[in-house]
Amino acid sequence: MEDKIHIANQNAKIIPYNSLENNKIKVNNLSVRYREDLPYVLHNVSFECDIENAKIAIVGRTGSGKSSFLLSMLRMNQPTGSIKIGDVDLLDLDVEDSRSLLAYIPQEPFLIEGSLRDNLDPFGKYSDERLIEVLKDSKLQESLNIKEEMDKKKSEN
Ligand SMILES: Nc1ncnc2c1ncn2[C@@H]1O[C@H](COP(=O)(O)OP(=O)(O)O)[C@@H](O)[C@H]1O
Ligand SMILES: [Mg+2]
Repeated sequence: MEDKIHIANQNAKIIPYNSLENNKIKVNNLSVRYREDLPYVLHNVSFECDIENAKIAIVGRTGSGKSSFLLSMLRMNQPTGSIKIGDVDLLDLDVEDSRSLLAYIPQEPFLIEGSLRDNLDPFGKYSDERLIEVLKDSKLQESLNIKEEMDKKKSEN
């Protein structure tokens, strides 16, 4: 992780990574709709919570907007309002920067076409040692002959 992230607002500020460290997520007046002629699926949602060592669940009936909130954090829909982690508003960042701050475990696992290495590190940023460490931490190394598997091509899904 680089120690600076860029804010893509009109001032193109560069903020230090440690401004993420005030351990709170604050959502303010978050609104999302999928098209201008459709109703809002999130309408002025505001809340804040401590995130240090926390596991936070969002619960609600089907269609209540849980996935839409996640998609807003990942910048896959076009919300208004703000989603602040520490002092940083995810919605002010370049999409690439805001996505690089988040990790996401999907309900359905999938692999992209390519090697195990491509799947773990699609941008080629980490060493083999680091990737092997991650596989070990995830308890996956026992089911793989890592050295052999790392560059073997996987087909999609
Ligand atoms: N791509 C989309 N286009 C239009 N409406 C959508 C889209 N995705 C979700 N919705 C609508 O947004 C509302 C919230 O859905 P969603 O965020 O998937 O809720 P949840 O994850 O809580 O089940 C629902 O009414 C759903 O039909
Ligand atoms: Mg959902």
